[in-house]
This record gives sequence, structure tokens and C-alpha cells, in this order.
Amino acid sequence: MTPKSTHTRVAVIGAGVMGRYHAAVYTALPSASLVAVVDPDGAARDYAASQYGCDVFESVDAMLAATHVEAASVAAPTSLHHAVSTRLLEAGVHILVEKPVATDVAQARELAALSRLRGRVMQVGHITRFYRAVQLLKREVTRPYLIEARRLTPNTRIKDVGVILDLMIHDIDIVLGLVSSPVAEVSVAGHALNGSVHEDVAAAQITFTDGCIARFLASRVAPDAERSLVVAEANQTFRLDFAREPHTEIAIYRPQPSAGDGNHVHVDRHVVFEDNPLRKELEHFLARIRQAESPIGTLEDDLRSLTLATDLMARLRASGRHATFPAVET
Ligand SMILES: NC(=O)c1ccc[n+]([C@@H]2O[C@H](COP(=O)([O-])OP(=O)(O)OC[C@H]3O[C@@H](n4cnc5c(N)ncnc54)[C@H](O)[C@@H]3O)[C@@H](O)[C@H]2O)c1
Repeated sequence: MTPKSTHTRVAVIGAGVMGRYHAAVYTALPSASLVAVVDPDGAARDYAASQYGCDVFESVDAMLAATHVEAASVAAPTSLHHAVSTRLLEAGVHILVEKPVATDVAQARELAALSRLRGRVMQVGHITRFYRAVQLLKREVTRPYLIEARRLTPNTRIKDVGVILDLMIHDIDIVLGLVSSPVAEVSVAGHALNGSVHEDVAAAQITFTDGCIARFLASRVAPDAERSLVVAEANQTFRLDFAREPHTEIAIYRPQPSAGDGNHVHVDRHVVFEDNPLRKELEHFLARIRQAESPIGTLEDDLRSLTLATDLMARLRASGRHATFPAVET
């Protein structure tokens, strides 16, 4: 395939579930040319070559030796993000690293420092920042007193990190985008199931110094998928249901003054078409490279989310409440 020559030459590193979404979006974007896919797995490379018509490579080094790449999405397993991203930044490549940016804060800080040193964009794939419903919350919510986030799935595919880095970090990032007050208190409990070395279920409660309480439940061993968020403040409560993709259902409850007995609540229901948040995320990445847009979410925001997520993990391990349940007999 002939690359669209005036456009950013991009690569996708890791052509699994998420990398294929990135590759498909880049292929369709007028401002990008997908020139390479890297994956050590031969079947993943064959799929990419046939599907996107780009060059495929076994390793980042082989790609860098063979072709010129300006930007790359890093969608390899999380435990490899630091090594892969370091190699790309050192070669002068702008990177979009899937969330979580790394498995610990020190590695994430190193990458942030390297991207600044090399003058390259580093964006973290916190896709929820590109959901219209989340953007609506950021505009409308001023001082929440209670937030409850549930993110449950029956999918145990990701093995290299636990459910806090895999799923809960999405909600941590949303909540930290709504509450600017510092964290005052943290509690967490969780379980590893079926011989897993990482937690598959985690429940956490964060109290902020302004009094707001945020409760999180994340599971990748749930019988069914659920992704919901409730945000309550004095004069209104938002209830979001993200599990209706490509739509998010939003209900806004507002108490109404009433002359008679009983509580009167006015409910506004909205269905928001999310219009491919991944495409918006990648368009934003490309626009940042062209210096046409300033970041939606900074590296400090990414570090804040990772810091809280890894703090929960450390407390969970230290607490002894990280119970390991035996394999389920089938
Ligand atoms: N933003 C989101 O909503 C979202 C959703 C799912 C996954 N993710 C993130 O995307 C990343 C990948 O997750 P996934 O679900 O696609 O996993 P996956 O296991 O489906 O895919 C990972 C791919 O990376 C390849 N790989 C392994 N080592 C590699 C290397 N050294 N270089 C290049 N490729 C290599 C594997 O062969 C595999 O094809 C993870 O960090 C995950 O947290 C983000």
C-alpha cells in the first residue's frame, strides 16, 4: 500500500485486541499513514499484513532499522510498556502508550522525563477522557460528595497485571478528573482467583480532604459486564451507564421544591452517542504532534492516576486481605 506521504507515519506496537483497534483507526484517518505493525507473534503479524497492508516486524529494533516512523501506539502488554516506550522515545518517536503507562510510578516518571528531554509527545491511552459523557461530567459537576464506580467483566484475558491496573484505573482517572482535593484516606480489599498471582476483584474507598467519598468496585471474574458511575452532589445526582456502547445513558436527578407531602425529583434522561472515543484519542495525539492542540490530560494527571492505583495495589498486598482463592473445579 502506498503511504499517504504528507501525513504522520505511524506504527502500532503489539497487534493484540487493543493494537488492532489502533491499527484500524489509523488506517481510516486522513492525517496518518500506518506504515508498520510490530508483534513477536507470527499469526498477529500475518493478520496485520493482510488486514492493513503495512510492513510487519518481529521487534521494535527491526522496525527502526528498516523504516522511518514518526509516531507509534504502544499496545504491547503493560509489563513491556517501559522497555518498548524507552526504545521508541530514544529513537525520536512520539508515543501514545496504552493505559496504564507502566506498572510502577518510577518507570512512568522515567518515561515522562525522557519524552520531555527528547521533545517528543507522550500521551497515555486514558480513553475515558474522550467520552462525551465524561466530558459532560467535567463541565457540570462542581463539588461531589459521593462517587460510586463499578467496572465488571467476565474477561480474564489480561494476565500480566491485576484488575486495579487493568480496569479500576479507568475510574480512578475519571474520579481524579472530577475531584481536585488531595486524598485523605484509602482502604482496599481484593481477591485473586483460580491461581492468579494478581488480584481479579478489588474494592476500594478513597476519602478526599474535602470530604468526598469515592467507592470503586472492579472485577474481571464477574458473570456479566457492567460499567456504571454515580456522582452525587448537593443539588443533583448523575447516573451513567457505559455498558450500552456506542452510547452512554445518562440520568440526572434533581430534587424539586414541592408544596405537598413527599419528595419530588425531576429526572432528565439522555442518550449520548460516543462516536468512537479511540478515534478522537488518536486524532488528538496526531494533532499534538503537529502542535495543533494542547493536551487533554497531562502527564501529571497520568502520574496521579497511576500513583493512586499502585498505592491501592501496595496496600492490598500489605493488608493480607489479598486472599487467594483456589481454582474453581469444572
Ligand atoms: N484503553 C483501553 O480501554 C484498553 C483496553 C484493553 C487493553 N488496553 C491496554 O492495551 C495493552 C494491550 O492489551 P491487549 O488487550 O491488546 O493485550 P493482548 O494480549 O490482546 O495484545 C498484546 C499483543 O502484544 C504482543 N506483544 C508481546 N510482546 C511484544 C513486544 N515485545 N513488542 C510488540 N508486541 C508484543 C502480543 O503478541 C499480543 O499480540 C495493555 O497495556 C492494556 O492495558 C487498553
